[in-house]
Amino acid sequence: MFSRLVNKSKAWHKLKSHYKSFRKVEMRDLFARDSERAARFTEKFGDTMIVDYSKNRINAKTMEYLMNLARERRLEDKIKSMFRGDKINITENRAVLHTALRNRSGKPVLVNGRDIMPEIEAVYAKMRRFSEDVRFGRFKGHTGKKLVNIVNIGIGGSDLGPFMVTEALKKYWMKGINCYFISNVDGTACAEVLNKLDPETTLFIVASKTFTTIETLTNARTCRKWLVDALGEPAVAKHFVALSTNEEEVKKFGINPENMFEFWDFVGGRYSVWSAIGLSVAIAVGMDNFDKMLDGAYAMDEHFRTAPLEHNIPVILAMLGIWYNNFMGIHRYAVIPYDQYLQYLPSYLQQLDMESNGKFVDINGEIVKYDTGPVLFGGAGTNVQHSFFQLIHQGTEIVPCDFIVPAISHNEIGDHHEILLANVLAQGEALMKGKTVKEAAEELKKAGKSKEEIEFLKKFKSFSGNRPSNTILLKKVDPYTLGALIAMYEHKVFVQGIIWNIDSFDQMGVELGKKLALNILPELQNNVYELHHDSSTNALIKAVQNFRR
Ligand code: F6P
Repeated sequence: MFSRLVNKSKAWHKLKSHYKSFRKVEMRDLFARDSERAARFTEKFGDTMIVDYSKNRINAKTMEYLMNLARERRLEDKIKSMFRGDKINITENRAVLHTALRNRSGKPVLVNGRDIMPEIEAVYAKMRRFSEDVRFGRFKGHTGKKLVNIVNIGIGGSDLGPFMVTEALKKYWMKGINCYFISNVDGTACAEVLNKLDPETTLFIVASKTFTTIETLTNARTCRKWLVDALGEPAVAKHFVALSTNEEEVKKFGINPENMFEFWDFVGGRYSVWSAIGLSVAIAVGMDNFDKMLDGAYAMDEHFRTAPLEHNIPVILAMLGIWYNNFMGIHRYAVIPYDQYLQYLPSYLQQLDMESNGKFVDINGEIVKYDTGPVLFGGAGTNVQHSFFQLIHQGTEIVPCDFIVPAISHNEIGDHHEILLANVLAQGEALMKGKTVKEAAEELKKAGKSKEEIEFLKKFKSFSGNRPSNTILLKKVDPYTLGALIAMYEHKVFVQGIIWNIDSFDQMGVELGKKLALNILPELQNNVYELHHDSSTNALIKAVQNFRR
């Protein structure tokens, strides 16, 4: 029977007892015993991606029990439910349909009985027209100059998606077009971008689902003033467009709704790069490439919707995460793209994963009695090998890693890419195999060290190994593959939310801090001395006031 108490279920108990008998098993022994292990635990996604998950602390039984848990949680029904447009974002009573944005099936998608595909297509047609007009100089600035500086003003999902994707696809940028991103309310973010730009050639894209986010509106007002000071009020119509669900607020801000690109409340902020929020991407790389990204995401959607759980890449990755998080007590993981273009992927995934699954109340309103979303961090390889990899290899914390690397680089200069590839493959091998104290001693002996030196150094030079990683090998970082990769992680996060019985699509945790900031703001602006916070906050406000006096 379906159990509300996830961690009291049969499959959960089975995994718990499996862990007891499995926790000491070494991956290097599993590899030695089974020459087919890599093939057994590798999945292919068309001819663009290979996911090797054989370097995980699993065997066939582990995967079987994990898939039993997924089935017990009725994952297959929940997947259908999301694609069908059921209101699975229960706290906000909304459908979750970022998948409709890349629906290439030609079939309708219904929300409240209405097919939403024509509206989606209409916005894409408008994005195509506008992005091409900007790219080819048909939509000009107020003084008749070509708009070559594209500034996206947004934060969270209205920044991280387009920022990460434009960087990832830099090789596809139109020559002469430059993209900038202003997100932080820190005036430095605005100042540093504006200092580089000429108002006559700058297009501002104000990206905000709600159009009420204080950071974005503050930055947008500053940029508007900068433009109006230089070119006068009438210039706004030619230099500002808005991406939003909120026409009223867009009008209030002074942007003509004709210059607004709409999206809808069934698209969550962190899932919105596929929507009008991707306008900066479309201008930089062209709508044809944007379409290819949608094609890749659609292909991953189809895989996720139809592949059996045992061969379903997002499901496999999700259930491995569940294994570590809920049975092995490992509450963190790292995403390490070995590709400079993907350097911002970890930041993007931080919002996707941690804003979605950082929840302690389940969908029934009960406090959960098990761990939910892990801490995600990461950075580009090989750089991170020279920063936090020491801990990943020899620390007392186990950090499962996702290594992402393209086989073919956009910049095949000398032997750079072979060196990069050799490094990523070596990391997975080293983490899995480790090096025993005996092996370390032998190596020291070979290097001619004295007996005393060997005795002293051998433990420092040993590696416990048995540290998990997935290797996600891409053919190349192109729009199609990038679309598939992002969709893969979206679905992974969705699956974990289903297992944990939480609403992965709200973000109420960010509200409290926002509200308290609104209390403190006037106290700082007006130098209020009568303060009613806790003693620490009171003292800090006073210290700020004193410094600024
Ligand atoms: O941080 C909370 C959040 O609501 C995110 O989910 C969202 O991506 C971001 O703020 C920006 O919101 P908006 O697009 O409405 O400005």
